[in-house]
Amino acid sequence: MFNIEEFDIKLDTEFVGRNFIYSDEVDSTNSVLLTSKEFAQNGTVILAEHQSKGRGRKNREWLSSPGQNLTFSILLKRDLKESKINMINLGAAISVAQAIENLYQLNVELKWPNDVLIGKKKIAGILIESTSKGNKISKLVVGIGINVNQPNFPGKFDIPPTSVRKEFHSLVSREKLLSEVLNNFESILDEAKEDYKKILNDWRSRCKMIGEKVKVVDEEKTRFGLFEDIDDDGFLILKQGEKREKIHYGDVSIR
Ligand code: BTN
Repeated sequence: MFNIEEFDIKLDTEFVGRNFIYSDEVDSTNSVLLTSKEFAQNGTVILAEHQSKGRGRKNREWLSSPGQNLTFSILLKRDLKESKINMINLGAAISVAQAIENLYQLNVELKWPNDVLIGKKKIAGILIESTSKGNKISKLVVGIGINVNQPNFPGKFDIPPTSVRKEFHSLVSREKLLSEVLNNFESILDEAKEDYKKILNDWRSRCKMIGEKVKVVDEEKTRFGLFEDIDDDGFLILKQGEKREKIHYGDVSIR
């Protein structure tokens, strides 16, 4: 189903994906890496064909289509300030966008905080989760779901979905796409060691909502305002009259 050799030939990383686990079914690839003592090497990647409890942001369900999509998680074990987790989130979205653009010349946009879109339709989503010891993050897990070869999406969705196949009008190699994402992700992590500015600027250049009037919905309230920018930690700056508010999470849509 998934040709590990083909994937491995294209993988050009030092540590991301060097420990690679392929599984038919797990509850959630994020949960496996968060809880496993066995898979603890920095950069470990687990790819599963099916997740019985795949989850998205805000505990939404993330459905899998075995053989057709990519549902995987990457384990990072490094000293990281809590405020910088969001930068990894943005970096992961950029790595998916770059991979789809490089391999299939499609125009990819990013939506705050971590949706990857083509023509307003969702092609991938990211869910970052972590465990801490004291006030230090001990494990950071970057979970990524990419719609690759699904021909259609029955059901109702908050954001209409699409797949690489639908946009590129051809079946594509999941092995090539996964290795390209991981190669990009490691390069972005390397750049981020020096400076997070490149992540912020790359992300800004792919987000078409900056400068637009938006609605931001979280569990507690709905806010309206101007999506002015993201700040140095990647949080959304919402301008309401003369007031500016930093938004840490929520669903954003054009008003
Ligand atoms: C979202 O857009 O809401 C985020 C979706 C993240 C889905 C991925 S699939 C691999 C990993 N395991 C999970 O249970 N979720 C993430």
